[in-house]
Amino acid sequence: MKNIILLGPPGAGKGTQADLICEKFNIPKISTGDMLRDAVASGSEFGKKVSNILDTGGLVSDDVIGSLIKDRLDKPDCNRGSLFDGVPRTLGQANQFNEMNIMFSHVIEIHVDDDVIVKRMSGRRVHPGSGRNYHVLFNKPQKDGFDDITGEPLIQREDDKPETVLKRLNVYHDQTKPLTNFYSKLSAESAVVFFKVDGSKSVTEVSDAIFENI
Ligand code: AP5
Repeated sequence: MKNIILLGPPGAGKGTQADLICEKFNIPKISTGDMLRDAVASGSEFGKKVSNILDTGGLVSDDVIGSLIKDRLDKPDCNRGSLFDGVPRTLGQANQFNEMNIMFSHVIEIHVDDDVIVKRMSGRRVHPGSGRNYHVLFNKPQKDGFDDITGEPLIQREDDKPETVLKRLNVYHDQTKPLTNFYSKLSAESAVVFFKVDGSKSVTEVSDAIFENI
């Protein structure tokens, strides 16, 4: 069974690679970012509570993330494994995963320098219904501005404004980057495979590097 974590800064290409990995291994993608954006779009009370945190680039509390993950893992499609896109992203969440007895086969760090990320984010376009990602230069849809699968319009995310991207990068270095040491140590003393790929290469080169190691 493959239970895979994708770690990396905002815009590293986690969502892009997650879709390719999930398709190849026929496992569901668990993206807390997509789940939270869905909640905001639904207009629910929960969505209203987290909306400002997402828009300003902060992190939702570990307790909230823990219960989202627990509910999602209760669904039967997770029995054959799952791809965790952008979660855990704090040491507190990693400890919650341990407490839930979630066993990982692979932890992959996608590394991209901050200056590349800031340039990348302005070109990102997203299909809100599915979370599918495109880029106006590097990962174009077949028809500019529209999703390849549904033909629906693509949008620009609220948190992709340059000042919010910088805040998200700070939060990443402060709270998420320490997880790379955490999982690197875990891999030295267990069967978990931890590896790092260079996310500044093309989408295909990055996925080739990932598939070589899974
Ligand atoms: P989330 O949605 O998880 O955002 P993120 O981690 O900041 O990551 P992104 O989705 O921005 O980027 P990505 O790495 O997926 O890159 P992508 O493939 O899109 O979280 C959003 C917010 O929700 C957080 O800020 C937080 O508030 C909250 N949240 C979520 N999870 C949480 C948690 N666990 N705890 C607390 N809060 C949480 O690619 C980016 C762009 O680059 C795209 O345009 C893409 O087409 C392009 N691209 C991809 N690969 C390449 C490549 N190799 N070369 C050139 N371009 C590329």
